[in-house]
Amino acid sequence: MPGPTESSSGMREPSRPRFAILASGRGSNADALMRAFKRNFIAGEVVALVSNVEGAGVLERAREHGVPGHVVVSKGLTREAHEGALLTVLEKTGAEHLLLAGYMRILSPWFLGRFGGRILNIHPSLLPEFPGLHGAERQWQAGRSVVGATVHFVDGGVDTGPVVLQGSIEVRGDEGPEGLAQRILNEVEHVIYPRAVRLFVERLTKPVET
Ligand code: GAR
Repeated sequence: MPGPTESSSGMREPSRPRFAILASGRGSNADALMRAFKRNFIAGEVVALVSNVEGAGVLERAREHGVPGHVVVSKGLTREAHEGALLTVLEKTGAEHLLLAGYMRILSPWFLGRFGGRILNIHPSLLPEFPGLHGAERQWQAGRSVVGATVHFVDGGVDTGPVVLQGSIEVRGDEGPEGLAQRILNEVEHVIYPRAVRLFVERLTKPVET
């Protein structure tokens, strides 16, 4: 963590933790996070949004929030080459922590080692159930009556790693898999992800107990 910075009043203030958001798609979670940072619900800064997909909708969300957007294409590259390029971009932005928001890539142990314990992810199911793709829709198909989403620390597995926060809703009989996935997004994911990041920041800034 960097040290304190000088404010306009000349007082020394602790610097705010710096985050980069990584996303591959439309970016509704990224949008919810950027809103939460903007209204200071999360006491930190989003220094960059990085997408591995050219033209992804999330880049437009970043523009709307005045967050610098970057594209580090993964298609056609080896994992090593892509992650090397990604790390170079992230180092330039000064990001200390990463928030995966619909980032559809598995990160290698090499990359995870660079950000050990400082990467969060959101997944649309009550993990450890339904990891992997289409978690929300698979909860519908399995006939669950209570479904939800999970924010967790990222480790080397697919949607594994210690859980930070989960949220749940009751399934309605008539909504179908897409309707349910949308309601999980709106009513659970967009609520618990900002809350989980806020908890993460509070833990970072808490005095160490001796
Ligand atoms: C979200 O539902 C997120 O939980 C999921 O991708 C969607 C991205 O939507 N992530 C995973 O499934 C990770 N395994 P968004 O681009 O609108 O945030």
